[in-house]
Amino acid sequence: RVRISQPTAQPTTLAEAGQKAATCTRCDLCHAATQTVWGEGNPDAPLMIVGEAPGDQEDLQGRPFVGPAGQLLREIIAEVGLDPEQTWLTNAVKHFKYTPRGRQRLHQNPNRGEIQHCRWWLDLERRFVSPRLTVALGASAAFSLTGNPAPLTARRGKIEAARDGGPTLISWHPSLILRLPSADARSARQELAGDLATAAALIG
Ligand code: URA
Repeated sequence: RVRISQPTAQPTTLAEAGQKAATCTRCDLCHAATQTVWGEGNPDAPLMIVGEAPGDQEDLQGRPFVGPAGQLLREIIAEVGLDPEQTWLTNAVKHFKYTPRGRQRLHQNPNRGEIQHCRWWLDLERRFVSPRLTVALGASAAFSLTGNPAPLTARRGKIEAARDGGPTLISWHPSLILRLPSADARSARQELAGDLATAAALIG
């Protein structure tokens, strides 16, 4: 008799996908991270906002966008009148990547391999949430969603097709605003706010 091995059961709901992701070992980032940071928001949201990966605070609290960059994002969302109830917030990579330095944990950007491994989860999340529009914050999210690794300078503010066909507005990551000198930070903030206002109008 031929034994047919059972495929691993695919999660059938968004909540089940989140539970399964909590024990993910698809890449090595799970070993040093505290926990998987799954998306949060309205599971039927018309707008999905995708960041890069959890940072130190997100890793400790188990929620996306609660650290300094996340607080800035939430502030801009409120400022442009985008209803948080209309959004699902998530990341291209679900585990924090860092280098220990004394008692500190220095944030590291996930590499392309890690982004590709974790796309399995983002793709699932996208099938369940099925947003009408997605905003990609920064190059890692843009790469994960579209497969295009090109720098963002020429792409920011434009809509590209995600691999699954979903329209995806490319914008800056809020952490860029925190790193830039003040004049550049001001214009990057205005651009991110403008893009989020565009997103609000498009889903309106
Ligand atoms: N930066 C991200 O890309 N995602 C978060 O959840 C927090 C900070």
